[in-house]
Amino acid sequence: MSTTEQRVAVVTGAARGIGAATAVRLAAEGRAVAVIDLDEAACKDTVEKITAAGGRAIAVGCDVSDEAQVEAAVARIADELGAPTILVNNAGVLRDNLLFKMSVSDWDTVMNVHLRGAFLMSRACQKHMVDAGFGRIVNLSSSSALGNRGQVNYSAAKAGMQGFTKTLAKELGKFGVTANAVAPGFIATDMTAATAERVGMGFEDFKAAAATQIPVQRVGEPDDIANAVAFFTGEAAGFVSGQVLYVAGGPLD
Ligand SMILES: NC(=O)c1ccc[n+]([C@@H]2O[C@H](COP(=O)([O-])OP(=O)(O)OC[C@H]3O[C@@H](n4cnc5c(N)ncnc54)[C@H](O)[C@@H]3O)[C@@H](O)[C@H]2O)c1
Repeated sequence: MSTTEQRVAVVTGAARGIGAATAVRLAAEGRAVAVIDLDEAACKDTVEKITAAGGRAIAVGCDVSDEAQVEAAVARIADELGAPTILVNNAGVLRDNLLFKMSVSDWDTVMNVHLRGAFLMSRACQKHMVDAGFGRIVNLSSSSALGNRGQVNYSAAKAGMQGFTKTLAKELGKFGVTANAVAPGFIATDMTAATAERVGMGFEDFKAAAATQIPVQRVGEPDDIANAVAFFTGEAAGFVSGQVLYVAGGPLD
């Protein structure tokens, strides 16, 4: 492709939260964006934000843990927007519980959305990246990868995302494809609001309590993560690969 041609980015779990902010940010950087989430109609707001600002975007309903849906979604994106050469594996779910109470289904759900989803999406998109001689893959890890009580499934998946990222970087580097991970700390989204509800706290109190433990004394916003993703997906970031960037308002123990 010529360097003036618009690159196509795919952001999973982009109906809301970090994914939505990332999709909007990548569109502002001049990318055409495929906004993927479980329910196509739920992607409408993100798509409208992008198109209202003069960008190009489509909504794509897809469960990233389902092989056939992923293959069909990526084929549709290539057809309607162009070859996807930027991929942000952001879709995620929580199924928190202490180990002794954790069901096999809650273990499997978290593994399937994060790890199987990132694997299926990356495998489907890499052919387009290799053909283009250019690619940027960013995987959402988490500070929980370092271990977090009540998240044995999620912390294992998010640590897995880091190993997955480093291996992609090694396998795909020679084709002009980089792979990096962003590991957020506490970000104010529906996901953390649901955690507040689960532990019986109001979200404002929950955020205020979290902020006291963060060196910059505030919780993160989705745009804080979108900003880091924009760096890794940038044209100029071609020599940065296999890295894990913690975006958490300070260092983590
Ligand atoms: N919010 C935080 O504090 C935080 C911290 C660290 C990491 N993360 C990670 O960042 C990512 C985004 O988190 P968020 O806070 O915006 O969450 P969120 O719950 O607000 O949004 C997640 C989105 O993913 C979608 N999704 C879930 N399963 C899917 C599937 N199988 N296929 C397609 N889409 C699916 C949901 O419908 C939702 O729109 C996740 O991977 C999460 O684990 C979040």
